[in-house]
Parts: sequence; C-alpha cells; structure tokens
Amino acid sequence: MATCDYVPTSEARAREMLSLANVKEGEVVYDLGCGTGEILIVAAEEFGAKCFGIEVNSRLVEWAREEVEKRGLGDRIKIFHGNIFEPRFWLHLGGDPSIAIANADVVTYYLTLWVQEELKPLIERELAQGARVVSREFKVMGWTPVKVNNGIYLFEKGRSF
Ligand SMILES: C[S@@+](CC[C@H](N)C(=O)[O-])C[C@H]1O[C@@H](n2cnc3c(N)ncnc32)[C@H](O)[C@@H]1O
Repeated sequence: MATCDYVPTSEARAREMLSLANVKEGEVVYDLGCGTGEILIVAAEEFGAKCFGIEVNSRLVEWAREEVEKRGLGDRIKIFHGNIFEPRFWLHLGGDPSIAIANADVVTYYLTLWVQEELKPLIERELAQGARVVSREFKVMGWTPVKVNNGIYLFEKGRSF
C-alpha cells in the first residue's frame, strides 16, 4: 500500500488551502490522510464546513477524535480509521451510504506524489462535476490546476481532470 509519514499542516496553512478552494458554509470537505485533523478543524470552525477525515494510523485517529470532542465539533467532523486504498473501506464508510467521497464538495490532501498518483483513479471516478481538490505542496501529475498560490494547488473536476 502507498503511504507517507505524518507531517501536520498549521492552522495558517490550512486556512490558505481552504480559502484557495473557497470553501463555503455547509459544504462537505474530506481530508484524505487527515492526521490529527488540523485541516478539518479549521474547515469546521472557520468555514462552517461538514467534515470527514480518513486516517490509517490509529494513534493519530485517537488524537484527532479527542481534539474534535474537546472542541465540541463532534457533530461537524467525523474521523474514520482506514486505508484510502482499500475499496471495501469506502463501501462501508461509517455504515451510512450518504457518507461517500462522491458527495464531497472539496477534497484536501497533503500527500506525496506517489500516494497522489495511486489516488487519482478513485478521485477521477468518484468525484462529482465541479468538486474541488486542494493539494498542499504537490501538483497532481497530469491535472491542470485552476489556481496555484504559495505551493497550494487547486483542481476542479471537469476543468482540471
Ligand atoms: C503529510 S500527513 C498530512 C496530515 C494532515 N492531512 C495535515 O495536513 O495536517 C499525511 C497523512 O496521511 C496518512 N496516510 C498515508 N497513507 C494513507 C493511506 N493509505 N490511508 C489513510 N491515510 C494515509 C498518514 O498517516 C499521515 O497522517
């Protein structure tokens, strides 16, 4: 399985990513490889988004869930423990068919080129037209960004891929 190490995104950087994607109140944001949930916490608290995070490392999942509870964001952020490359995982996400990457307005990731490359088929297949992908540091190979700012790349289904 393709994976990469945990390196957190600061609140300021998360804000830049979410602003570039123009996240609006009530939109659905997924962070793939969410670590301790930094991006999602900013998305929920400052942008009013409904958030879902997927993380393979169980300790990070525990920390993320603790932080979400501590901040009283349990109704706005759900963190799932799992591998984004495991198709069965996506089928049974939360046991609720409405929780699906196909319903994302915005997908965020801070993943290496290699992991992004493996993710491409899932994202290209599942995302709705107009959904945005915002990637920190790494341009997704073969996609054309609609905006770039300070090492953050914004893509849109239908325009970029
Ligand atoms: C660079 S960190 C970014 C963490 C968080 N998104 C942030 O920006 O603060 C990448 C995260 O992706 C997780 N990850 C890597 N491969 C994964 C996979 N196959 N499934 C789920 N999570 C994965 C790692 O455990 C790590 O926490």
